[in-house]
Amino acid sequence: MRKRPPLSMSLYNISDVCQITFAFFAMKIILTGSHGFLGTAFSQFLAVKGITTIPLLRHENGQREEGIVWRPGVDPKCLDGADAVVHLAGARIDRRWTPAVRREIESSRVDFTRALCGALAAVPHPPARLLCASAIGYYGDRGEETLDEQSSQGAGFLADLTAAWEAAAEPARRAGIRIVHLRLGVVLGRERGALARLLPLFRLGLGGPVGGGRQYMSWIHRDDAIGAMLHLLELPNAAGPYNLTAPQPATNKEFARALGRALRRPAVLPVPGFALRAVFGEMASETLLASARALPQRLMDSGFAFRFPDLDAALRNLVGA
Ligand SMILES: NC(=O)c1ccc[n+]([C@@H]2O[C@H](COP(=O)([O-])OP(=O)(O)OC[C@H]3O[C@@H](n4cnc5c(N)ncnc54)[C@H](OP(=O)(O)O)[C@@H]3O)[C@@H](O)[C@H]2O)c1
Repeated sequence: MRKRPPLSMSLYNISDVCQITFAFFAMKIILTGSHGFLGTAFSQFLAVKGITTIPLLRHENGQREEGIVWRPGVDPKCLDGADAVVHLAGARIDRRWTPAVRREIESSRVDFTRALCGALAAVPHPPARLLCASAIGYYGDRGEETLDEQSSQGAGFLADLTAAWEAAAEPARRAGIRIVHLRLGVVLGRERGALARLLPLFRLGLGGPVGGGRQYMSWIHRDDAIGAMLHLLELPNAAGPYNLTAPQPATNKEFARALGRALRRPAVLPVPGFALRAVFGEMASETLLASARALPQRLMDSGFAFRFPDLDAALRNLVGA
């Protein structure tokens, strides 16, 4: 498989994400969602180390990129012989959830995961390990309650979606593949993701807490999210859900203040919840306005060392202060 094109890492030093061990160099890793925020960062990090991931492409990509093209009727044997699969695909959540958008969000996660896992279960040499994206949306809107991987499923579209998404991996689990569900919090990165969308407003001094700001936001620096994924690829016996969140969740108000401090800008202009609900409907209620105070209990128990456990340090790193 040809290496992906050289990748720019100039903005921040992705090679410092974490040390990787010799075992990775011999690994064949298939990656879905490879063009996304996390998929790009994950493959860039490994590329810097000289390790090539094999993208699972949803479309023919001409001569521009090699990978496995995944379309209905494809022979599942194209997945044979991988050591690990990292499955990050999923259609965007951050838009108004019309019935068509809900179907796309569900199908790109639940149906895709079920099809992929069914195929992986059927190949002669299945991978030992599958990391599947998931989300702390599993816990729903839980106020000040501290949540870890033992906490129960919450209510709402995202909680039901996430539970179905995790359950869709069952065929692979039955085939003996070790499955890790990456229950991701809000991943903070400079170029893409939630922070990147907030930055223009906050840079102008027009940012502030949303919906009163008391809701908890479980965030994680992008480098720690990638580091945790690598850690879980290597951790013997890792299986089941892992919260990928920093050890210190912040309320929305604390987050807005910290971002204002990092940018040296005021961040006091509140955005009322009703305005967000009017524009984004249920999406706003279940994401921006919902409270999830999730702790990365299993990551901490497994000895994962966060580079950015502290929100101020994470934001200073990301906004370049
Ligand atoms: N970033 C976060 O803060 C966060 C938080 C919680 C959970 N997650 C989950 O983690 C995963 C990766 O997140 P991300 O931030 O990297 O997401 P992203 O930037 O939106 O990328 C997701 C990838 O999913 C694939 N995709 C998009 N629409 C699809 C569809 N209709 N059918 C199948 N695949 C589709 C695309 O991959 P290709 O173009 O390569 O095919 C896309 O690049 C997602 O499942 C997301 O829900 C992320």
